[in-house]
Amino acid sequence: MAEVIIVPGEEDGGRLVADAVVDLVRARPDAVLGLATGSTPLAVYRHLAARVRDEALDVSQVRGFALDEYVGLPAGHPESYRKVIEREVIEPVGLDPERIAVPAGGLDGVETAGERYEAAIREAGGIDLQILGIGRTGHIGFNEPGSSLASATRVKTLTEQTRADNARFFDSPDDVPMHCITQGIGTILRARHLVLLAFGAAKADAVAAAVEGPVSTSAPGSAVQLHPHVTVVVDEAAAGAL
Ligand code: GLP
Repeated sequence: MAEVIIVPGEEDGGRLVADAVVDLVRARPDAVLGLATGSTPLAVYRHLAARVRDEALDVSQVRGFALDEYVGLPAGHPESYRKVIEREVIEPVGLDPERIAVPAGGLDGVETAGERYEAAIREAGGIDLQILGIGRTGHIGFNEPGSSLASATRVKTLTEQTRADNARFFDSPDDVPMHCITQGIGTILRARHLVLLAFGAAKADAVAAAVEGPVSTSAPGSAVQLHPHVTVVVDEAAAGAL
């Protein structure tokens, strides 16, 4: 059973999870973080950056693996998750860019990129703390409904709903890529601690399905129920259907 923590708002949720990351890094300076993109974890990264700065915390050995990446965006596109992770996490927190991996979304070699990513996670000793958001379709990472609960990192097709939800980051909805490469649900479940964040009423149904619904490929977030150490951090609105 997941531990569900209801917080007043996004800032409080961000602070709470940043505190957990700081505790982890103090205990294990070469901790391996699983990094989510999207709007939800931004408060985590802001609070983490502030604590690292204020307490002069040594994060030079911290490693990280992003959850997912678009396939086929031009290298250096500002909305590629490599760039987003650089802008929102690596630079503000002061992480070593060489120690932070993002799945390779370039068309060249994309068919083997998943296997290489899985090998890199294994070689790092696995992910200690995986930060997760959840999409309105119930996706975690970019594992849309129908994804196998045992899946590994691989190329997937985005749903129209997810493309529409992410269109706000692009000049035009047509610019949102059709494909992505994402850690699988099986990959996510191998992390030692999952922290799922969600804020706002638009996430209430996805949160309820993830936390209380039947474990099912039609609600990918429900896979977290298979994990022994899950913390769900939500505001009142996102907890509204629990
Ligand atoms: C995005 C990401 C997910 C994220 C989810 C929710 O497209 N690929 O990792 O958790 O969808 O996004 P947001 O936090 O912006 O609502």
